Amino acid sequence: MALHDATGDVDYITCGHGGYLDFERLMPTFLFPEKLTAPVTEHLKAAVTQAKITSEAHVRTPENAESIIASGQADLVSIVRGCISCNQMCWGRRSRDYWSSCLINPSAGREWEWGSEPFAATKTPKDVLVIGAGPAGLEAARVAAERGHRVHIHEASGQIGGQFRLAGMQPRRAQILDLMAWYERQFEKLGVSLHLNSYLDAGDLPPADHTIIATGSQPDPSGRQRWNPAHPTLLGLENGNVWSPEDVLRREAKLGDTVVVYDEGGNWRGVGTSWHLAEMGKAVIHVTPDAFAGKEIARTSADMPARQRLARAGARLITEHCIARWHGNGITLRSFLTGAEETIPVLALVMATTNQAFDPFPETLAGHALHRIGDCTAPRTAPYAFHEGRKLGLVL
Ligand SMILES: Cc1cc2nc3c(=O)[nH]c(=O)nc-3n(C[C@H](O)[C@H](O)[C@H](O)COP(=O)(O)OP(=O)(O)OC[C@H]3O[C@@H](n4cnc5c(N)ncnc54)[C@H](O)[C@@H]3O)c2cc1C
Ligand SMILES: Cc1cc2nc3c(=O)[nH]c(=O)nc-3n(C[C@H](O)[C@H](O)[C@H](O)COP(=O)(O)O)c2cc1C
Ligand code: SF4
Repeated sequence: MALHDATGDVDYITCGHGGYLDFERLMPTFLFPEKLTAPVTEHLKAAVTQAKITSEAHVRTPENAESIIASGQADLVSIVRGCISCNQMCWGRRSRDYWSSCLINPSAGREWEWGSEPFAATKTPKDVLVIGAGPAGLEAARVAAERGHRVHIHEASGQIGGQFRLAGMQPRRAQILDLMAWYERQFEKLGVSLHLNSYLDAGDLPPADHTIIATGSQPDPSGRQRWNPAHPTLLGLENGNVWSPEDVLRREAKLGDTVVVYDEGGNWRGVGTSWHLAEMGKAVIHVTPDAFAGKEIARTSADMPARQRLARAGARLITEHCIARWHGNGITLRSFLTGAEETIPVLALVMATTNQAFDPFPETLAGHALHRIGDCTAPRTAPYAFHEGRKLGLVL
């Protein structure tokens, strides 16, 4: 480097992270620390006199950028993804069908259709009522208000964010809580009136030109397993000590020291909850019907680092198994490969199975133009909720 610098032919050097043999480092998810290349650029700075040095990879925020420049570790910084570093719809989507978008900014890759912010003002401002402040409701409310509508949003709990706020309680995911704080600031700026602790049902809906139902989804209390269809409920459910990831992250679950997390989704809801419990010092057994843990986050290059974090925190991973029976203080697992059953003593069970849509409203309601978005139409993941919220906010 010093040799090239001495010729004066090199103007700047960009220092990124990882390489094509380890994609999980090249576009690091939130699993990795921030300011990843600052220690390396510091060395490079010491070796050159003319070239400018750029620090890239997980700089993420203006505060991190300022601190790298202020400490002299680099001359320049580069922020590619100044976001929640999930890789779900940018890198993840690119390796599916090559059409990159973004989980929190669904206009990315769709600018030709939706334009960019600020969105075009409406010529006919209306009263918009939004029920539920999860990702779908938040985004619909924000976009409608940005376009000039008068928006009221009602949320049953004391906080905005819905299930996605709970994702922000998992290890290293506080960026999601920053995103929620951003929505609160936007609501203040745009004059959205936010009503917390306000559960609405069909009988007490305030009048509005448009009523948006964004009531999300909830854990399935039956313990039904997709891969054990002979039983509509978990055998032994009545023995108790069975919880959902939501119970765990809301700190409502009374767990002992040993926990099985049964993960049918293969995504952060299950994997992140196991990691959270392992970091708390619990002896965690992560059981999945899939061939490997974190199957649904594989496209985001996060599955291997996630399994490493789980293993380093002492979790045991059991793949290609379902639950044959829950005993209240132990579990019998069945292998898909051999059919063999194994009983393991354990004090609690967390079922990360498919959620159930929650929509307490009738199909139609006299005097209300109803719209439905997000998980309340079918339980999925956050990108679909943000997408549907924005799409609706743009056409009201
Ligand atoms: C632990 C966890 C981790 C997750 N991690 C990820 C991830 O990494 N990536 C991803 O893509 N997805 C993730 N998900 C899934 C994602 O959070 C959901 O798909 C998404 O939040 C759905 O958004 P929504 O707005 O449709 O519904 P919800 O988030 O369920 O929000 C609905 C809101 O409506 C409120 N509400 C319900 N009924 C009423 C009523 N009658 N009146 C007023 N308010 C009401 C509820 O209190 C809730 O706040 C995770 C989920 C969990 C639980
Ligand atoms: C969707 C996507 C595609 C990328 N493609 C490439 C690529 O083709 N070659 C490359 O060297 N880096 C690629 N990167 C890595 C970025 O250039 C950057 O180094 C990385 O995202 C870390 O910076 P950040 O944390 O600011 O996003 C890509 C990143 C993303 C998110
Ligand atoms: S999908 Fe969006 S929020 Fe997630 S890492 Fe990619 S750019 Fe960031």
